[in-house]
Amino acid sequence: MTMNDTATLTIDGKTYELPVVRGTEGEVAVDVSLLRGTSGAITLDQGYANTGSCFSAITFVDGEKGILRYRGYDIADLARYSSFVETAMLLVFGELPTREERAAFRTMLGDQALLHEDLMHHFEGFPPNGHPMAILSAVINSLGAYNPDLLDIQTEREFRKVAAKLISKVRTIAAFSYRKSVGLPIMYPDPSRSYCENFLHMMFSVPYKEHVPTPEAQKALSLFLLVHADHEQNCSCSTVRMVGSSEANLFASVSAGICALWGRLHGGANSAVVHMLEQIHEGDISVKECIERVKRKEFRLMGFGHRVYKNFDPRAKVLKECATNLLSTLHIKDPLLDIAQELEEIALKDDFFVSRKLYPNVDFYSGLILRALNIPVNMFPVMFAMGRMPGWIAHWHEQHLEENTRIHRPRQIYVGPNVREYVPMKDR
Ligand code: CMC
Repeated sequence: MTMNDTATLTIDGKTYELPVVRGTEGEVAVDVSLLRGTSGAITLDQGYANTGSCFSAITFVDGEKGILRYRGYDIADLARYSSFVETAMLLVFGELPTREERAAFRTMLGDQALLHEDLMHHFEGFPPNGHPMAILSAVINSLGAYNPDLLDIQTEREFRKVAAKLISKVRTIAAFSYRKSVGLPIMYPDPSRSYCENFLHMMFSVPYKEHVPTPEAQKALSLFLLVHADHEQNCSCSTVRMVGSSEANLFASVSAGICALWGRLHGGANSAVVHMLEQIHEGDISVKECIERVKRKEFRLMGFGHRVYKNFDPRAKVLKECATNLLSTLHIKDPLLDIAQELEEIALKDDFFVSRKLYPNVDFYSGLILRALNIPVNMFPVMFAMGRMPGWIAHWHEQHLEENTRIHRPRQIYVGPNVREYVPMKDR
């Protein structure tokens, strides 16, 4: 970060000098943190589209050029050479691990996979059709009740333990919430299996019939989780930071992140895309009609558009290739893939989408990978949450270590009534 310029702002004829800050990739920001103190004015930026809320050294996105890097490493390189666990370590601890470090962390993940037996009873309390995102968020938050010694992290050792706990247990809780919802017995984690293999085992093994996922299925899952692992100050990450800024513990903060992720405009978009593709496949609406109705603004083309990417989303590129390869290797003919490709092709030539710079985002093809892995649609946002866990942890930790951090507390422009006299009930 460098600070050597100033910007000049004039309000009511009075001029104010504001520091200009530059990031390591040349991003420019005007620092308005002292503006209200000197001028009485605040800045207004609905949806925070133009607001930098923090300094961060975790993830870099250049939306105009379609660049995404975790800790300096390009997403395409990580997708090609790395695994989810290794990338999670990169995000959470700052560097790619050595072979020994990765092995030690994998052992920690294995050791942390079980849930406290009392916590298992919580699953009994949820109704059979309870959405797995509600269950995930609630159970992740209740981990705080089972780990009172880790609510106030003081050392790096404690942080490592909580990080391993969360990255491991989110997978167990995700699988258990699915098993309960379909009335199947819980399948305990097997520490001898790798991260993705263990998840697929907990999802699909049944007593006396082990599920042995193919290497291709494990690889595709690892890639899916890896590309979701972080995306700087998105809605759920900002929620984690917002909650963490009050010095709330890590369990509570990431549980709030899961709630933020649930919405259709964020992590809920992957299931919305598949619903949309299914509707087209079932003949409720044609591809052409879908595009026309989107253009009439009756609804949005799910899995398209992004607040930051005004060029292609590099994650969509990786996932499209992964979906196509996985379906072909597993000899699956998914008609939804053809529909998605047709929609993409038409949209990318249509001025409505071109002029608004709307491209496929991470959610457009991801659901096709999950379908090929037999993951049910209501679990899609849960899968996103599993992937995003390392990013949330890394951001919470970065903020926790910062010396000059303040509670997040935006201001507002009040537009309600001016002062009024209280009217007694009998006179209303
Ligand atoms: N389909 C049709 N029109 C769209 C879409 C879309 N998917 N996205 C944006 N637009 C239009 C929007 O109507 C507006 O048009 P106009 O200028 O005529 O009013 C223009 O594009 C700008 O839209 P915006 O709402 O200002 O954009 P935003 O930056 O606030 O929203 C978004 C970003 C991702 C919420 C939005 O593109 C969207 O709703 N996409 C569909 C949902 C989706 O796929 N979400 C996943 C996002 S990526 C992963 C994640 O964050 O979880």
